[in-house]
Amino acid sequence: MPLLIKNGRIITATDDYCADIYCEDETITRIEPSIDASSLPADTEVIDATGKYVFPGFIDPHVHIHLPFMGSNAIDDHESASKAALVGGTTTLIEMICPGPDDEPLAAFNEWNALASPSSAVDYTFHMAVVRFDDLAQDQLKSIVTDHGIASFKIFLAYKGALNLDDADLFDLLTMAKSHGVITTAHCENADAIDAMQSKLISEGKTGPEWHEPSRPVSVEAEGVHHLATFAELTGAHIYTVHTSCTPAVQAAVDSKLRGVNVWVEAVAPHLILDETYAQQPNFEGAKYVMSPPLREKSNQDTLWNGLKSGVISTIATDHAPFNFGDQKSMGKDAFTKIPNGIPSLQERIDLIHTFGVLTGKIDLNTMVNACSTNAARIFGLYPRKGSISVGADADLVVYDPNAKHTLSVETSLSMVDYNAYEGWEMTGQASIVTVRGQIQARAGQFVGSIGRGRLLKRKPTHF
Ligand code: URP
Ligand code: ZN
Ligand code: ZN
Repeated sequence: MPLLIKNGRIITATDDYCADIYCEDETITRIEPSIDASSLPADTEVIDATGKYVFPGFIDPHVHIHLPFMGSNAIDDHESASKAALVGGTTTLIEMICPGPDDEPLAAFNEWNALASPSSAVDYTFHMAVVRFDDLAQDQLKSIVTDHGIASFKIFLAYKGALNLDDADLFDLLTMAKSHGVITTAHCENADAIDAMQSKLISEGKTGPEWHEPSRPVSVEAEGVHHLATFAELTGAHIYTVHTSCTPAVQAAVDSKLRGVNVWVEAVAPHLILDETYAQQPNFEGAKYVMSPPLREKSNQDTLWNGLKSGVISTIATDHAPFNFGDQKSMGKDAFTKIPNGIPSLQERIDLIHTFGVLTGKIDLNTMVNACSTNAARIFGLYPRKGSISVGADADLVVYDPNAKHTLSVETSLSMVDYNAYEGWEMTGQASIVTVRGQIQARAGQFVGSIGRGRLLKRKPTHF
């Protein structure tokens, strides 16, 4: 059905103006100061966006939905995760495909895509994790890039023995990525240092969630970023540091940028909003706030917000990784090393950034759109189809009420996880209409769309 959005204030990464937007056949076909509804087909749905912002659909470039990890499996499926994304204003997801070290990459791609394809209500693509780099894996990775349009890799320098890649493979992978124009996203923490620190703390009887941060301090993350950047410098590969949490890690990325390394930096909502004191809460409550890299000392947040404001940090993702408190996080009751890592934030991201970033003056609205949508589209080969409001772009739009008050809670969350890290928090701002290729998929906190509407977005490598 054609759609007309009237009287909205359009906010993109660069512009801020009032106009009407007309969408038909899944794309934006007209943007004009005033479009007369009576001149349009009779079945056109008209949305009055007076007093509201109109944003390009938000993109979350770092989510985990299907995730076998730390002896458990993340609790969302593509239906619940995409519904949660939509009511929060996110219309495109980039999920990490994380196979085990013995799995074949092509089989993993097929497994993840078979789960997402019938069930996703948002458009989606993947970062392909590289956890092995033998001849078979290399051939299959090339096919995943060229035949299936997956133009980004993911590597882990952390999670020793499970996901991490050794230095010889790291060099060869980045060499291959460079020659194919593929950007490599990376979890940058030194796996061996963490392993040693964890053993030391546990042997001293320091087993609670409050010891998670001391087991992987900021220096361990900064070393990881420096390490990755060194290999990127040697190979010319383009890199992207995921969930960058602290001043020394951001500084390591900036230092490498100054040496000419092509590095992009991602922040995630939990690190911007929550600090280490949440993971220090008694009675194992802190386990809800265990993620890696860990929540940090609060002053690191100034660096992250200022990094976004200055453009040093390009994107805000969630690193949504939902594990139940009741029967999954509890696996780490006797040792924090066994708490599945993750702080689910998919539904909450945009309202958190609007409430704590924009309304406090830390970043402006254009920066919010750039960091939560446009930059991800540019970096990962989706722009201008995604991340823009322009004629010919997909009609992924968010009509956002900046004055709507609502309270975050597990009760209203569409993720299947059994807790909300932001329980009871008052938000100012909420998506009132969310469209995916012209179809309304969410209205004011409710999913109203179709499961399975989401399409796999094939991307071309651009990072030569
Ligand atoms: O704590 C986190 N980040 N969990 C998900 C896996 C990862 O490292 O991204
Ligand atoms: Zn990670
Ligand atoms: Zn992650």
